[in-house]
Amino acid sequence: MIIGIPKEIKNNESRVGMTPAGVMELVHNGHTVHVQSGAGAGSGFSDDDYKKVGAHILDTIGQVYTLSEMIVKVKEPIREEYDMVQKGQVVFTYFHFASSQRLTQAMIDSRAVCIAYETVEDSDGTLPLLTPMSEVAGRMAIQQGAKYLEKPKKGRGVLLGGVPGVPPGRVLVLGAGTVGIQAAKMAAGLGAHVTMLDINMKRLRYVNDVMPSHVVTEYSNEYNIRKHIRTHDLIVGGVLLKGARAPKLITRDMLRCMRPGTVIVDVAVDQGGCVETTRPTTHENPEYIVDDVVHYCVANMPGAVPYTSTLALTNVTLPYVLNLANKGWEAACAADASLKKGLNIVDGQVVYSEISEAFDLSARVLV
Ligand SMILES: NC(=O)c1ccc[n+]([C@@H]2O[C@H](COP(=O)([O-])OP(=O)(O)OC[C@H]3O[C@@H](n4cnc5c(N)ncnc54)[C@H](O)[C@@H]3O)[C@@H](O)[C@H]2O)c1
Repeated sequence: MIIGIPKEIKNNESRVGMTPAGVMELVHNGHTVHVQSGAGAGSGFSDDDYKKVGAHILDTIGQVYTLSEMIVKVKEPIREEYDMVQKGQVVFTYFHFASSQRLTQAMIDSRAVCIAYETVEDSDGTLPLLTPMSEVAGRMAIQQGAKYLEKPKKGRGVLLGGVPGVPPGRVLVLGAGTVGIQAAKMAAGLGAHVTMLDINMKRLRYVNDVMPSHVVTEYSNEYNIRKHIRTHDLIVGGVLLKGARAPKLITRDMLRCMRPGTVIVDVAVDQGGCVETTRPTTHENPEYIVDDVVHYCVANMPGAVPYTSTLALTNVTLPYVLNLANKGWEAACAADASLKKGLNIVDGQVVYSEISEAFDLSARVLV
């Protein structure tokens, strides 16, 4: 198969859909890989790195789309790319169709085969191509939170680890899922006192078993949240109700109970956020202040650390890419129920019911 790796052109996106390690695997399997010149630069890979393992370097994004049977990338195609996507071409990337009718219509019109990373789903309901980005965002939440707790950033002026003779900072983590556990781990590593809240007792038991004793668990309810927001310096929002908007666990009136300079990092912002005052921000302007509480609500946190995020993402996407290239999309999806769940739009038809429901379109059922 001929596989194309375009350079991401979405604002502030420096990740790339394939590393030289991936190209090497594909070439060893007899495939041809076209990489757009400069595609890997933001993640630390030069054109030469790709060439050394057998990639063909192409000058323009147009050439990559025209000459490839399968496009592997990171973010959804943006408007400039809509007309480049070809009939029958496989496009394997994050799409998040339900959030854009324009993109959905463009991909229907293209008659391409759109396989979305975010809906590839294992039999236990986990989303293997989303997990690594949650891991990155959870760890980053503490890094960012620690920075915004500094006084020049309008935070409380608290050092999370404390120092001898001075108690450490206090971190409240809402949700003990992937984001929550990674955040708790980082905060605990810095020496902070960590409180984790969840409604899933299995998760709380697990946290209790594996975390050090300065990470404590409590059941998540309004009473406990109101109690803890008064005394914690950094609050991380990592809750998720699958397929739904995040519950508003912190309402606007609660901000007045927090001490001035408290920092909220609402990682769940991409699902609407678990704080009523959350609104999506960008890496250019990541934070804003409401009632003296600093809010950091960047919707694509992993984009700020492309060296790490590209490797974390491509580690998990490559096996699927290899399967698609070796078998073709129909046989690969027939043989792998997880990958089949990734099919969103095929030859002008929506085949994923949540997308058709979002836009009142009819969905074809795949058998
Ligand atoms: N901003 C970003 O850049 C970024 C990056 C990655 C992930 N995310 C988002 O972070 C969020 C969390 O992702 P995840 O992978 O950790 O999800 P997850 O499913 O692993 O964990 C979510 C946890 O929230 C818990 N929960 C549900 N309702 C709760 C409540 N009322 N109180 C406390 N806990 C509750 C669940 O029991 C679960 O343990 C998602 O919205 C995800 O899309 C954002």
